[in-house]
Amino acid sequence: MRQKLAAGNWKMNGMGPALAELETLTKTHKKSACEILICPPATLLSRASEAVNGNPVAIGGQDCHANSSGAHTGDLSAEMLREAGATAVILGHSERRADHGESNKTVAAKTMAAWESGLIAVVCLGETLEERESGSTLKIVGTQLAASLPDGANGVNSVVAYEPVWAIGTGKVPTLEQIAEVHNFLRTELTSRFGEEIADSIRLLYGGSVKPGNAAEIFATSNVDGALVGGASLKAADFSPIIQALEAS
Ligand code: PGA
Repeated sequence: MRQKLAAGNWKMNGMGPALAELETLTKTHKKSACEILICPPATLLSRASEAVNGNPVAIGGQDCHANSSGAHTGDLSAEMLREAGATAVILGHSERRADHGESNKTVAAKTMAAWESGLIAVVCLGETLEERESGSTLKIVGTQLAASLPDGANGVNSVVAYEPVWAIGTGKVPTLEQIAEVHNFLRTELTSRFGEEIADSIRLLYGGSVKPGNAAEIFATSNVDGALVGGASLKAADFSPIIQALEAS
């Protein structure tokens, strides 16, 4: 059985006062049946991990460098995230792929760095609207999965998040059939590469405009083990009902 995961990506949002949202989440979901992960901006990592105190909310980074140290101005290593209290890191988010030109190869290198530091890699992939409309969604996500997730992936060190680029921050959500098609495809791809036991242990999250109002139906979809949530993870009042929908699924 895969443990369900509700992950929040705060992106470049959140100053000190936002830590109060974490405190609320921690109190509300003390005995949650799912794992909860919040990825705040790096400036809040240490304070966020102190605020949640490890339980039940885990803290993660939003990116890391592939190297463990060196002359990389402005970057952070996986080890640094770990020291600041992170247990996971989001890698290959479409905003990083677009804004920072990250390739599948870069994402794979970062994933290995995350593993070496004991972080869970939340590896993101997803098609653009153009790719969906041209009918190449499965080809694109299949290529991203194969090239971004290194050999050695398993359910302990990796989570895969399917995030259609056109659904992120837009309020547009794929149909449940479209989500199921991609998630079932990803599971099949994982199975042919890693074997059934490992493939069955890797959680597949859906991300892109998940809200309290659509969470339950998304969580009832085949091979959806949770969500990676952007905008609706910023406030406990929005994220809590999503967590509750996942708990009930
Ligand atoms: P959104 O973002 O929930 O605001 O659409 C999702 C994400 O980018 O992870």
